[in-house]
Amino acid sequence: MIPPDRTLWINGHLRRGVEATLSLFDRGARDGEGLFETLRVNGGRPFAWERHMERLVLSAAVLGFPVPASPVTLRAALDQVLEAEGLTDAVARVTVTRGIPGGRPTRTGAWVEAEPLTARLWRGTRAGAAAVIVSKRLFEPGPLGGHKTTSRLAYHLAREEARVARADEALLVSPDGEVLEGAVSNVFAVFAGEVLTPPLSSGVLPGITRALALGWCAAAGIPAREYRLTLADLRAADEVFMTNSVQEIVPVGTLQDLAIPGRSVAGALLAACRAEVVRDQRDPGR
Ligand SMILES: Cc1ncc(COP(=O)(O)O)c(C=O)c1O
Repeated sequence: MIPPDRTLWINGHLRRGVEATLSLFDRGARDGEGLFETLRVNGGRPFAWERHMERLVLSAAVLGFPVPASPVTLRAALDQVLEAEGLTDAVARVTVTRGIPGGRPTRTGAWVEAEPLTARLWRGTRAGAAAVIVSKRLFEPGPLGGHKTTSRLAYHLAREEARVARADEALLVSPDGEVLEGAVSNVFAVFAGEVLTPPLSSGVLPGITRALALGWCAAAGIPAREYRLTLADLRAADEVFMTNSVQEIVPVGTLQDLAIPGRSVAGALLAACRAEVVRDQRDPGR
């Protein structure tokens, strides 16, 4: 296979194609000990950059990683990658690893990459409603569920189920029947105007878009709270939607074979999201 001819920033240097490599001594490469953030870049500006950096740095601290490269360094790295790749609307990924052991003080390993946005949008994001299936594997997030680690196999297997079913996303359900989240997204359901989403205490990822969506609900006077949802709840909901930093707010059009017609809350939140993107671009220093 020909390696992608892309330019990445790796541990302080721009590297292209086959030159973009990580040391086999890095514990990220060896044992999958890494954390990452995926974010959307609109018109050259990474959206909610500070929130993503906060989640990354907090997880690194909780999991006992060495000190990651500073957000200022990573931001400059992203700007370099965007320029090298000629991208303005993109999906950026920032990864930090536990680095190479020994030689204190150590730093995490780090790399930054970017890809064109359009290639990464779900069919359902483009069409305005997603097709969602329920993963056949029961899922237990465990204590790492709240961290965006590079150990992604369980999530990727669910995404693969979605791909095979020609769906956009797969819902993860716990052995006791609790709907947790999507393989790469958080889930919300609307009942008589009230918005419910699984609690962080269930081990779901504290999604950046989830937090923003709850804030936009509050600002719009839409009642919203955490609640342990079952699949039966979702099937009875007026509206279901997913949130993800790249896809933003996506109404669920079908859940397995069930059509879900409601769009109004997701529509309002998507409008709030787009307005925030425009504000952010007009006044970056805010
Ligand atoms: C398991 C999981 N849940 C939720 C999300 C959504 O998080 P965010 O809004 O920060 O993109 C993701 C993102 O990739 C994810 O992997």
